[in-house]
Amino acid sequence: MYGMRMKINHNGQSVILRRFTKNDIPILVEHFDSMKIHMYTKGLFAQTLENEEEWYEKNRKNPDSCTWTIQPEGSEYPIGVTSLDNITSRYNFCTSGIIIWDSTWWGKGIASAAHLGRTLFAVEWLNRFAIRSSVREPNVASRRALEGVGYTVWGTEPISTERCGEFLNTHHLLWLHPKRINIYYPNGLPEIFRNGVKKAEEALALAKLEVEYL
Ligand SMILES: CC(C)(COP(=O)(O)OP(=O)(O)OC[C@H]1O[C@@H](n2cnc3c(N)ncnc32)[C@H](O)[C@@H]1OP(=O)(O)O)[C@@H](O)C(=O)NCCC(=O)NCCS
Repeated sequence: MYGMRMKINHNGQSVILRRFTKNDIPILVEHFDSMKIHMYTKGLFAQTLENEEEWYEKNRKNPDSCTWTIQPEGSEYPIGVTSLDNITSRYNFCTSGIIIWDSTWWGKGIASAAHLGRTLFAVEWLNRFAIRSSVREPNVASRRALEGVGYTVWGTEPISTERCGEFLNTHHLLWLHPKRINIYYPNGLPEIFRNGVKKAEEALALAKLEVEYL
């Protein structure tokens, strides 16, 4: 399924998250044959228009996923994709992911803004209590964007993939809903998550101010 439209005004950036249309698919394909974009994702092979049209159709009908394309103000085209997956987990978890496929938009606060909207939606509309994600160790920008909204690295998997002749470790992260802590941790929040939960509280308060459903 595709996500409802929202606008996030964050640190001078205005970013729209909206559903995909079929017209967006060729733009995605154009950028999805780049190792620069996929260096730290799970992608290893280029996608064709046919593959991505199938993805669009499959995703459209998938009740377990909520996907948006990302379009910042000032861009005629969408520049990325972000999603919440496993949204029907009976344990109120979900997983999250993001790819900004147009690298000219990297480092401009787009992921940080998108994460605010995505996280607020996970909490306020999907009743998620926790969000999981993972990041390749060298992908500092991705880790920082996630930590900025309250995700915590809880563990690191050694040599989990090979990229460009080097074996990379993968960090695993968890975001915890500050008001649902007692459900997962009735005996108290483990120290490792304290800072993240504080940040999550701040991020949700900020998101309430900066996210607008259109
Ligand atoms: C990783 C990615 C999502 C980051 O998105 P972005 O919009 O460039 O990130 P932001 O501009 O919001 O920056 C997030 C944080 O990383 C920092 N950052 C940005 N680029 C950086 C870089 N090259 N090196 C180190 N830190 C960087 C920012 O300063 C910011 O930190 P702060 O919150 O402490 O200020 C984007 O580069 C991308 O899609 N890459 C390709 C696909 C990918 O790797 N997806 C993630 C898989 S886990």
